[in-house]
Amino acid sequence: MEESPTEKRPQFGNRYLENADEVFKHNAWDNVQWDSEQENVAKAKVEQNSEIKLTEDYLRSLEENADKHWDAFYDVHQNRFFKDRHWLFTEFPELAPDNTSAPIRVHPNGENNPTEENQIQIRSNTKRLIFEIGCGVGNTIFPILQYSRDPNLFIYGGDFSSKAIEITKQNELYDTKRCEVFVLDATENEWKVPFEENSLDIIVLIFVLSAIDPIKMPTVINNAYKYLKPGGLVVFRDYGLYDLAQLRFKKGRCISDNFYARGDNTRVYFFKQEEITNLFKTAGFSEEQNLVDRRLQVNRGKMLTMYRVWIQGKYRKPL
Ligand SMILES: C[S@@+](CC[C@H](N)C(=O)[O-])C[C@H]1O[C@@H](n2cnc3c(N)ncnc32)[C@H](O)[C@@H]1O
Repeated sequence: MEESPTEKRPQFGNRYLENADEVFKHNAWDNVQWDSEQENVAKAKVEQNSEIKLTEDYLRSLEENADKHWDAFYDVHQNRFFKDRHWLFTEFPELAPDNTSAPIRVHPNGENNPTEENQIQIRSNTKRLIFEIGCGVGNTIFPILQYSRDPNLFIYGGDFSSKAIEITKQNELYDTKRCEVFVLDATENEWKVPFEENSLDIIVLIFVLSAIDPIKMPTVINNAYKYLKPGGLVVFRDYGLYDLAQLRFKKGRCISDNFYARGDNTRVYFFKQEEITNLFKTAGFSEEQNLVDRRLQVNRGKMLTMYRVWIQGKYRKPL
């Protein structure tokens, strides 16, 4: 008998900090509300670290050598970075509908909780093609392959870092019967990919769009639309405005508003909710989810509080 995915599963997303004195009682708190003072402090920090802009030559070289900077990143970190994927199946149960071990995500006031319609799709068991744009070293692909036993599932992954693709292919979990990764610059107008237009069930965009020049983001989203089948879904998660990572930038690393170059010359953009809505809606998608995930992470040993801000969305290509 099929068990409803919302029954008898632990819930996630409902640990709310009601008494500020209790902040060090747990490692993390969900849906943390920012008051106007905290918002203003963040805004002032961003104004400060955005003051000095990089030179035109430097900016051009950041764009021209973007793939090489990610190659260098993966040369150093191999596949030891971006490990934690506990949240993957909680936030995006669509990725492995047969995996019912992940906690169920709940949202304040029930907003954005899975709808009847979504539940039916989560339970469906037909042939499925997933494509991850900017798959890096497979930290999303491999958990899906491990957690899903679906024999109809095939996962593609593309990344413009040839080093990342090489590392992914060397992983012992890389199974050519179940997945294929290849080099692809997602900002190119015409993608060279091993699948047809209108063929994909799900496209994954996790912490990738933020690495791309905002001017080129529409090209990526338009291509995603082209290759998804009607009714197909994009799952999106990325940095939100005033995330800790943005506030930590020092002066001199800002490229343009909310877009920065890290010390290793990889780039990162911090999104507002409405920018994501606009990008996807302009390309023709309908919005099923767009939320700000505000989490307070706590280092209890060092008595540190870290305010994380992520934007999460689900966008469907109409039937
Ligand atoms: C922060 S990492 C995230 C990797 C992976 N999605 C994950 O969550 O572990 C960003 C990735 O985007 C890739 N990337 C950046 N710009 C790209 C582009 N134009 N085309 C394809 N991949 C790109 C980088 O090489 C890197 O692997």
